[in-house]
Amino acid sequence: MKVFTLATELLSIQAENPQRKIAFIPTMGALHEGHLSLVENAQQNGYVTVVSIFINPLQFNNLSDLEKYPRTLEHDLALLEAQGVDFVFTPTNEEMYPTTTADVVVDLGLLDSRFEGACRPGHFHGVVQVVYRLFHYVQPHVVFFGEKDLQQCLVIEQLVLQHFPEIDMQRVPTKREVSGLAMSSRNMRLTKNGLETAAAIYRSLSAVIVNLTDIDARLAFEKQKLTSLGFDVEYLSCVSLPFMDEVSGKQLDNQSDASKKGKYAVVFAGSLEGVRLIDNLVF
Ligand code: PAF
Repeated sequence: MKVFTLATELLSIQAENPQRKIAFIPTMGALHEGHLSLVENAQQNGYVTVVSIFINPLQFNNLSDLEKYPRTLEHDLALLEAQGVDFVFTPTNEEMYPTTTADVVVDLGLLDSRFEGACRPGHFHGVVQVVYRLFHYVQPHVVFFGEKDLQQCLVIEQLVLQHFPEIDMQRVPTKREVSGLAMSSRNMRLTKNGLETAAAIYRSLSAVIVNLTDIDARLAFEKQKLTSLGFDVEYLSCVSLPFMDEVSGKQLDNQSDASKKGKYAVVFAGSLEGVRLIDNLVF
């Protein structure tokens, strides 16, 4: 496994592997099985795998969140090495944000101002800036993103559509604990009790999609249930994809099951023990 810190070093990847496709998985480190499942997806297809580890200051709207973000580079590199990753890119802030480059513009529609966009102003602007630069440096054929960050996937799909139509963007289903809890770097900040309680998110999401005819009442009921378990719920909503328009039970009733598939999601964000968690189910 080769570790690069300079963008120019990445040029050797294509030069050394002219016949193979390059798969890219951008991360901010603090790696867990969810990230490794993205790597596995790339490797199953025989791609050269490139992982980046860069904590992007531009996507944190809250300085204390940035400071608290776990930094586990040595451990991350050991995990990636054991997993058989080919290249890791660990750039500095100066490498990613030289003072001379201008911001890229991506039309995100309302994605930037609703749900995660509304809760974390400027977040997707920061994500788009860093991912644009990373794609530009790595020049991947295929990129893998976890569906746990569904809205981020939708944002990246717009970035790809508008600036990198040659890239194949793959969404990988959320990796879950046995309890159903979505794997996340933030889970390590929960207590043992908190981890058990947090599994209720998945149960609620599943309960919502089990009976779509009564979705409005079900959303209200599950929201109340999560609140009574100690969650500070920011949203629990049913949305259409790709722009996350909120939909009601009536709108869903008017569509056949076949035409619905993959076009909707139930999305959640909320805090437990002061830790902000997100999750979703696409249906
Ligand atoms: O999902 C993440 O870890 C980050 O948002 C990403 C895509 C690596 C951009 O910094």
